[in-house]
Amino acid sequence: MSKRYEDQAWQERMRIKLDINNMFSENVGEEHGYTQDDISNMQTQAENAHQAILAAKEEGTLGFMELPETHQEIAAEIKEFAQNNAQQYDNFVVLGIGGSALGNIALQTALNHPYYNINEEARGDYPKLFVPDNVDPVRLKGLLETLDLEKTIFNVISKSGGTAETMSQFLTARSLVVEELGAEAVAEHFIATTSQDSGNLIKIAKQEGIKTYYIPENVGGRFSVLSPVGLVSAAFTGIDIEELLAGARYMAQLCDTEDLWANPAYLNATLHYLADQDGKPMSVMMPYSHSLKDIADWYRQLWAESLGKRVNREGEVVHVGPTPIKALGATDQHSQAQLYMEGPFDKVVTFLEVEEFKEELEIGFGYDEIAGVSYLGGTTFNQLITTEKKATELALTKKNRLNCTVIFPEVNEFTMGQFIYMYELQTAFAGELYNIDAFNQPGVELGKEYTYGVLGREGFSEMKDEFDARPSKDGNLII
Ligand code: PA5
Repeated sequence: MSKRYEDQAWQERMRIKLDINNMFSENVGEEHGYTQDDISNMQTQAENAHQAILAAKEEGTLGFMELPETHQEIAAEIKEFAQNNAQQYDNFVVLGIGGSALGNIALQTALNHPYYNINEEARGDYPKLFVPDNVDPVRLKGLLETLDLEKTIFNVISKSGGTAETMSQFLTARSLVVEELGAEAVAEHFIATTSQDSGNLIKIAKQEGIKTYYIPENVGGRFSVLSPVGLVSAAFTGIDIEELLAGARYMAQLCDTEDLWANPAYLNATLHYLADQDGKPMSVMMPYSHSLKDIADWYRQLWAESLGKRVNREGEVVHVGPTPIKALGATDQHSQAQLYMEGPFDKVVTFLEVEEFKEELEIGFGYDEIAGVSYLGGTTFNQLITTEKKATELALTKKNRLNCTVIFPEVNEFTMGQFIYMYELQTAFAGELYNIDAFNQPGVELGKEYTYGVLGREGFSEMKDEFDARPSKDGNLII
C-alpha cells in the first residue's frame, strides 16, 4: 500500500514554510529591518558556508545529514520491534538527558494525544511514556514508585555511555528490577541506545544481554533525534517514524541549494546571524500550538549548545552565541509579551503557526446581554488562537520588533521531520557564519569534572582538590 508521504501533491501541501516579511525594513522600519540587499550581500559568505558543509558531509563528520537516508532500514526494524513488543508493557521510560531526552519529549508532545498517558483510548495498545530527563530525587523516586516494574521497559540512552545523570538513573532502575524481578529479568526490561564502539554502556549491555540500538559516531547528541535516540520511544508510542524520516528527506531536498533565497535553513540562519551582529542576540521561539511547546525546548538546546562558544576555529577568543528563549502562545501573551513589545530591541521572535489543527473546538454560547463575553460564543478555539497569533505578530511588527513565522500546514510526522532537519541544518550553517565548531560543547565539561571529582570517580581526584580549595562563601553575603 502506498504511503501518503510518497504522494507529491500531498508532500507539497505539507511543506512547512518560512515567512520572513517582518524581518524587512518595509514592515519593521529602517532602523531595525533588513533589505533585499542586506541578504544578497551575504550570498558569498553563504556559498562558502555551503561548500564547508558539503565538504564536512563528504568527510563523514555531519552524520545528522545522513540519518534520513541511512536510517530507513533501521526505522523499519525499530517499528517492527516496537509493534511486536509494545503490548507487553504498560510503561516505556527513557533514561537520558539533554540530546538523549529532549527530542523524545518533543516528538511525543507534538504527535501524540495531549493526554496520551491518561487516555487509554487514544493510546491503544501502546505503553505510557515517561522521560524524567533529570536527577531530581523527588521526581525520580516518585516515578519509580509509581510504575509496575513487571510492566515497564527502560530505554537507557547515552552516546558516551558515561553521563552521570543517565547512569545513575540506570543503576537505580536496574537495582529495583533485580530486587523485584530477579537478575534474569534485566534483559527483558532494558534497551540500551549508545555508541557501538566506545563507552561503558555498550559493555554493560553486552554483559547483560540487553537489546541494543546504536547512535552513529558522527551524530552528536543534540542532532540525534532522527537516530534510534528519538525513533525507539516514538515507535513504542505509535508515531510513524518512517514518515518522520520522509519529512526530513523532503526538507533535505529543499535545502540542497546554496541560494539563500531558496534555502529556508540558510535564510533563517542568516537573518538570525545578522540580527545578532546588530545587537539582537535574543532568539525567542514562540509556538502558537501547545503540541509544539517542547520542540521549542529542543531548539533551545540545539541553538545554545551548538553556537555558544568561547573560541572560533582559529582558536581566537570570541565569546559568541545567540540566546535561544522558549515562549508559548497564547499563554505567554500574559507573561512575556509585554517585554517583547516594549523592552529592549534585542530580540527576534520566531512564531510557529499551525494552519490546520487536529481538532476543532467551538466556544460555548451564553450571556447574550453581556457584550464583552457573548461575542466569543460560536467562534472556535482554532479561530481564537490563530487570531491571537496574527494579532501579536502585527502588534510586534507595529512596534518595530523583528519577527518571522514557520508555518506548519499541520502538525504531523512529515512536518515534524521537515522542521527538525531544517533547524539542524540551520544550526550547522550558523556555525559556519560564526566560524565556530557547532558540534562540541567544551564549556560544559568543567562542571561535570568537578562533579566526578566530588563523587569519587577514578581519575578526577585533582578536580576534587580544586573543588575543595574553592573560596569559602562570605556568610554576610547570604542574607
Ligand atoms: O548534545 C549533546 O552532545 C549533549 O547535550 C548530550 O546529548 C548530553 O550531554 C547527553 O550525553 P550522552 O548521550 O553522551 O549521555
